Amino acid sequence: MSPTLNDFEVLFSAEEIGKRVAELGREISRDMDPHSELVVVGVLKGAILFMADLVRHLPENVSCDFLRLSSYSGTQTTGTVRFDFDLTQPIKGKDVLIIEDIVDTGLTMTFLLEALRVRNPRSLKICTLLHKPSRAERDVPLAHVGFTIPNRFVVGYGLDYEGRYRNLDRILALPEDYEEGQ
Ligand code: IMP
Repeated sequence: MSPTLNDFEVLFSAEEIGKRVAELGREISRDMDPHSELVVVGVLKGAILFMADLVRHLPENVSCDFLRLSSYSGTQTTGTVRFDFDLTQPIKGKDVLIIEDIVDTGLTMTFLLEALRVRNPRSLKICTLLHKPSRAERDVPLAHVGFTIPNRFVVGYGLDYEGRYRNLDRILALPEDYEEGQ
């Protein structure tokens, strides 16, 4: 049986998330070059809530864009990622900040960094809300991390389970000892 909302426990409350997102906004603003144009790139769909809240803590001259990726596990070891849809503007010479919901194995962000780097942005950085380092298969440079979490399946605040729970204002996790069908 698949998990229902009752199987999850709160990992980060709406208040904790709000505080951390404001801190990240200050961190990013501090790092920004005031003379260059920052393009904030949200990776759909998971980054929607995070991006919407984060950009309210950034300077007013940033621009927002979105892209969407899908991953297919062709074989057990190699995940293949492709663009479902792409950015609406060239990023050559611009500072680009990718906004991601969670970096798990790192395969998605490795693909995206390579795909965007060849477009010659001035700089290319990642800001992820969550990082699960215990699952890393690729070493991905992360400029800004909201929370580092253990190897647990999470939903809420943009993250889904089979399309549901993205709209929750908090982040929930399955208990460490959760077993499907229990
Ligand atoms: P990666 O390529 O393994 O780093 O996977 C990144 C993507 O997997 C994220 O953008 C999420 O869509 C999804 N993902 C990884 N872990 C979780 C989780 O715990 N809950 C929901 N989605 C997840």
